[in-house]
Amino acid sequence: MKIEIFRRAPFVDREQEIDFLVEWFNRVPQRILWVYGPKSSGKTTVMEYVVENYLLKDKKRFWVKYFNLRETVISSYDSFLDTFFVELEKSESEKGARIGINVFGFKSEVWERIKEKKINLFKAFIEELWKIRGKEKRCVMIIDEIQKLRDLYIKNGNGARELLKEFLNFCVRLTKETHLSHVAILTSNTIFIERIYNDAKLKKTSEFWKVDPLKKERVREWLREEGFGEEEIGLVWEYLGGCIPDLIKVIEARKSGRDLKEHLEREAWLAYTEIVDFMVRGDFTEKDIEMFEKIAEEILQKGYFELTKEKREYLKIIETWAEKEILFYDPLELKVTGNSRVYEKAMERVVGEQ
Ligand SMILES: Nc1ncnc2c1ncn2[C@@H]1O[C@H](COP(=O)(O)OP(=O)(O)OP(=O)(O)O)[C@@H](O)[C@H]1O
Ligand SMILES: [Mg+2]
Repeated sequence: MKIEIFRRAPFVDREQEIDFLVEWFNRVPQRILWVYGPKSSGKTTVMEYVVENYLLKDKKRFWVKYFNLRETVISSYDSFLDTFFVELEKSESEKGARIGINVFGFKSEVWERIKEKKINLFKAFIEELWKIRGKEKRCVMIIDEIQKLRDLYIKNGNGARELLKEFLNFCVRLTKETHLSHVAILTSNTIFIERIYNDAKLKKTSEFWKVDPLKKERVREWLREEGFGEEEIGLVWEYLGGCIPDLIKVIEARKSGRDLKEHLEREAWLAYTEIVDFMVRGDFTEKDIEMFEKIAEEILQKGYFELTKEKREYLKIIETWAEKEILFYDPLELKVTGNSRVYEKAMERVVGEQ
């Protein structure tokens, strides 16, 4: 298996995912790409890998902006504006907006008018993109951690909500209508994306693409190269599945001479205490707890809990646990699993205690 160094850390090959993204960005933009998947499944890393190794290496053809909202708090029009955009100094605008890939720069005169809402931000942005496209470039906009916009969406008044809707409709305009730019939106919070995309009526204009944890075969190859035996690999798979950061941790633990089973049991124990802690503090009724236990049982029996219309009363509890990043809800398949395998291992203990 190919393991290369990316950003000073080993990068386990994600050939299929890379191929998909490279092909997607090479096509004419038609739809927004929603990249989703369980927590830490590797969405950001694979996207950044493609940006650095493919798109930025072909600057003649691609123009890329990568907005990562992780570090930001967006609660108003002004903070929204400051997250995505900057005012260009005169000298910068003369040089042609060479300000890195994380923000977009407007010339001072345009910036002032946007700030004062004298011109529409999105209209001004589209005009700028047309100029770039005029140079025969393919534009790619990536927005990571979109759930950070939730404050804007949930807590604020209608004005802020409208801003988010306007932004999403702008993304539709960029892709489906003008084919001016790709838009890829990344998140592990599927509850949030389902809500916004239903609300902004984005179904026909979206493509959902899931980044799963590593498959068993990949995990086996990786661990073999790290010197694990077959039995050890089986044990690791049972406790940690294909969750990359958990696998990195177990490799480190083994290198430092820790007993494998002990390490894995400890990880499952910590996941279990996280679940119990949330049960204790989470303001749940007896019925809520029972419902969680039912979900856990079904996951343990079938590998997933299936949300059917008869089980619709479970949705709220699924959402609560998904927000806590203990369950993962796939809105396309209507299936619920642990956010990573170790939580499912922890569920064995929860169910066993009933
Ligand atoms: N292909 C890979 N090879 C090695 N390490 C990886 C790989 N993909 C991800 N990782 C590591 O796993 C961790 C989680 O990855 P990443 O942040 O990309 O996941 P994510 O799906 O974006 O997570 P989140 O749901 O929090 O946004 C990171 O520490 C990252 O360096
Ligand atoms: Mg991420």
